[in-house]
Amino acid sequence: MRQKEFKLEQSNSNNYREDEKKYFSDIGNYFQKSSGSFSEKMHAFCRYIPRQSLGHFLARHEIFKEILDIHGSVCDFGVYRGSSFFAWQQLSAIYEPYNHTRKIIGFDSFEGFSDIGEFDENRSDETIELKKPGGMAFSGEDEIRNGIDLMDLNRPLGHMPKGSIVTGALPDSFDSYLDEHPETVISLANFGLGLYGPTVELMRKIKPRLTQGSIVVLEEINQAMWPGETKALAEVFGLNNLSLNRVAFCPQISWFKLGS
Ligand SMILES: C[S@@+](CC[C@H](N)C(=O)[O-])C[C@H]1O[C@@H](n2cnc3c(N)ncnc32)[C@H](O)[C@@H]1O
Repeated sequence: MRQKEFKLEQSNSNNYREDEKKYFSDIGNYFQKSSGSFSEKMHAFCRYIPRQSLGHFLARHEIFKEILDIHGSVCDFGVYRGSSFFAWQQLSAIYEPYNHTRKIIGFDSFEGFSDIGEFDENRSDETIELKKPGGMAFSGEDEIRNGIDLMDLNRPLGHMPKGSIVTGALPDSFDSYLDEHPETVISLANFGLGLYGPTVELMRKIKPRLTQGSIVVLEEINQAMWPGETKALAEVFGLNNLSLNRVAFCPQISWFKLGS
């Protein structure tokens, strides 16, 4: 298959226009060199945050509102640097400060992509350097845990655990979690692994833990670079059986609600 290295169908620095490349090369310095304390800068965060990142957060916001009346925990499969994982925590803390039964559980090996199997082969003539075993490894697991502790200091009922991290290879680490927490009901499952193997097995495992109204969020559906996630979804839930929703301003993320 023909592979072009510097072009992508999804948002990625490799296919930015010249203006966008300049924006991303300048914005970090602009942030670092701007006047103001951390709090002052964060209060004005819209001055600094790239539109794409804000769009992702706003999409998660739209989706999270759908589970406010749905009981159960959030399972975030693929934490990486915490974009999805901390978004769910912020939103739970803001919208339902007293819902101490909603746990936000992040699963990751922090070792990057596990095996890229035959169903994960690019169906696009484009590729990214990170799509390889070990790609997107992140040795900042402690940073993530420290981030949870810090967030708890500023969270109503912060003395009662909400966010936690389960380190290990999926899907096995999910089995271990369920062994320890047989009470688990899932109101929202976020899939960010991109790969067929662990995704299809996890979908089978979460299915009996969903209730009518639970939501499954998908980061890589209908993307030629990540065909495995669509295949897993089709096999386990069946594309004809669900309404695959999107949020107008965020091209990557899709979601469906069980029972609608
Ligand atoms: C695309 S990133 C997740 C993105 C994240 N949801 C976000 O919002 O930024 C994929 C993550 O999945 C993890 N991962 C991939 N395959 C895995 C597996 N089999 N077991 C555990 N973690 C895995 C990688 O370590 C990586 O951190």
